[in-house]
Amino acid sequence: MIAKSFARIAVIGFGYWGSKHVRVLGTVPGVDVTVVDPDLDRLADAVSHYPTVRTASHLAAVADDLDAVVIATPPSTHHALAAEALAAGLHVMVEKPLATSVSEAESLVEAAESAGLTLMVGHTFEYNPAVRRLRDIVRSGVLGRILYIDAARLNLGIYQRDVNVIWDLAPHDISIASYVLDAMPISTAVWAWRNVGRGHPDVAYLRLDFPDTHAFIHVSWLNPEKVRRITIVGERQMVVYDDLSDNERIRIYDIGVDPDVTDSEPATGNMPMSYRTGDITSPYLPFSEPLMVEDQHFVQCLRGEAVPDTPGRRGLDVVRVLEATDRALATGSATWVGDDRGVLPGGPGVLDEPDLRRIPAQERRSLPRRSARW
Ligand SMILES: NC(=O)c1ccc[n+]([C@@H]2O[C@H](COP(=O)([O-])OP(=O)(O)OC[C@H]3O[C@@H](n4cnc5c(N)ncnc54)[C@H](O)[C@@H]3O)[C@@H](O)[C@H]2O)c1
Repeated sequence: MIAKSFARIAVIGFGYWGSKHVRVLGTVPGVDVTVVDPDLDRLADAVSHYPTVRTASHLAAVADDLDAVVIATPPSTHHALAAEALAAGLHVMVEKPLATSVSEAESLVEAAESAGLTLMVGHTFEYNPAVRRLRDIVRSGVLGRILYIDAARLNLGIYQRDVNVIWDLAPHDISIASYVLDAMPISTAVWAWRNVGRGHPDVAYLRLDFPDTHAFIHVSWLNPEKVRRITIVGERQMVVYDDLSDNERIRIYDIGVDPDVTDSEPATGNMPMSYRTGDITSPYLPFSEPLMVEDQHFVQCLRGEAVPDTPGRRGLDVVRVLEATDRALATGSATWVGDDRGVLPGGPGVLDEPDLRRIPAQERRSLPRRSARW
């Protein structure tokens, strides 16, 4: 914990996202901002936009004059920078993903806990008023049983050098889905493809198997339109969250389909279903910039006024899912998210038989290792 009135925070990495942290932190009362980046042009850019910031080309040069850092550098650098900051006794917020492997993420969580320092992960959408409302809607039960979630995060995006499109974009959707459902996925299956260049896959589809439902996530750097949409399909109602909508970011559809239960089903013709249609409503959402909410929260944590809503352990949970997507991609098989590794029983697309939720851990280990390719 630091003195209540003042916090000296360095933003490490003045790129696309780090520059936003600098803007936001600069408006938080009592926060003194330093920018750290080895790229001198970036430092010059930082000073031209924010003349009062201090700059440094590496953390060690300024660590003694800091209380905390925000790490907004490429994911492959997160672990080393966060470990260095924690070793220097600094509180740390790391952009998503927390690290690029479970072992790295675990070591950061352990280092922060043993040093009594704050470790927070920048799951920005968990600070987004629309996502918080989405969770309230799911919790209220108005949607009924959640049948599935569909997420699309698409754009003609920036191809990353050090991670594939899943590690770049899906942390947001894994964080949103697990936040609104208040559960982590048990297993995952992945289809991904590299279409352009010689780097990483640029388009991917994920299936996340939660204890009571599934989420299907489509992420792409190669799409003509920008899409940021989450659809939650419930048995009674459905909801669409469109992050790009100006005034109706959440729309609740009082709509659904029920099977007609009759004694004798016709052998031919359409399936006997009854369709319900009703109002489409859009709740009022007060505007607050998610990054502002997140950074203000981090400062509150530094001052001992709060504990992180997205602590290092939350970042570790999401990294576990991401690492499982690597295994699923490498094997072409659905893969357990936890340590209890194996492949799902059943053939392609078979999820419900046997019902995963009812398989005790020790039995899962002895399941036949039949490939379930997707
Ligand atoms: N939460 C969100 O919504 C969100 C949005 C975009 C990006 N991000 C995350 O922010 C991070 C940065 O992404 P970006 O798009 O700003 O990248 P970027 O490439 O635009 O910027 C990265 C910056 O880090 C600097 N850098 C590289 N290695 C460094 C090191 N070892 N020490 C100090 N600085 C170093 C680079 O010079 C560059 O200025 C990534 O982890 C990304 O996933 C989060």
